[in-house]
Amino acid sequence: MKTETNQIFHEPVLLNEVVECLQVSDDKWYIDATAGGGGHTKGILNKGGKVLCIDRDLEAVAYLKEKFKQEIATGKVIIRQMNFNQIKDCVSQAGIAKIYGIIFDLGLSTYQIKKSTRGFSFNNDAMLDMRMSQEEKLTAKEIINNYSQNDLYEIFRKFGEENLAREIAYAIYRARSVKPIEKTGQLKQIVESIYKKAKVHTKINPATKVFQALRIEVNRELENLQIGINQAMDILIPGGRCAVISFHSLEDRIVKQFFNETVENKTGKIIYKRPLRASKLELRENPSSRSAKLRIIEKL
Ligand SMILES: C[S@@+](CC[C@H](N)C(=O)[O-])C[C@H]1O[C@@H](n2cnc3c(N)ncnc32)[C@H](O)[C@@H]1O
Repeated sequence: MKTETNQIFHEPVLLNEVVECLQVSDDKWYIDATAGGGGHTKGILNKGGKVLCIDRDLEAVAYLKEKFKQEIATGKVIIRQMNFNQIKDCVSQAGIAKIYGIIFDLGLSTYQIKKSTRGFSFNNDAMLDMRMSQEEKLTAKEIINNYSQNDLYEIFRKFGEENLAREIAYAIYRARSVKPIEKTGQLKQIVESIYKKAKVHTKINPATKVFQALRIEVNRELENLQIGINQAMDILIPGGRCAVISFHSLEDRIVKQFFNETVENKTGKIIYKRPLRASKLELRENPSSRSAKLRIIEKL
């Protein structure tokens, strides 16, 4: 799957597992709530299903429209640029009566991470943007330069589980009073200097947790997830399944807790007690599947 610049848009993770768990059957409607490069959508189409694709990213939607031109023309694919926190409205606007399965593959696509202008990665020096949807106003730059020192601390601690959150928030507060922090490189340097001062060594880049925390705040990722999976259970037919792939413990905790609640109130049945993980083969071929956890629930 390539973009015009000949880069891979995204390699889907746990593809066979998702398609199998959703029990895809001919001419039934499924939702790919995080369609990205359309890998899971393609898997569902290959099994004869129809797909309502949702993504909040304009670039992903443009890519999907081109990729599934034929399927759109034959009524097998519908594409909507929106936040999956409105998944219920999206289904009624599309006029689909019955939804048999839904997949949420959380986080960012490879394209979003690699595209330097999006500002998600500390490997490129770019403007601190990090918006999944180009239509939103709040950027990482806005947060870094305008949130109070205490709010920054809270974000780094809560969404990054960063032990040096207090020190980093203070260093940002000091640095921005000299000149605005606008680029990913500036922020990376500040975090690295705090780690160095504290003599803390990590296998991952010191900026990883701060960048994760900012991305979650910019895109309201945890709130959207909570709303999205709640609405997903409402729109599924009884017997329909919802699959969620998460990539870090904050997301997985929300999914696990929500699934347990649906079992308690007898509206859902968990398909596998433990989340499914990538096989050794997939790990070798697609290292970004390393932290992926797939949980599946069936609506009763
Ligand atoms: C990991 S990628 C999905 C990749 C896709 N499964 C594939 O096979 O190519 C996650 C995608 O979800 C989108 N996304 C994340 N949160 C969203 C939300 N709240 N509403 C809609 N799309 C969202 C991102 O823009 C990104 O394109």
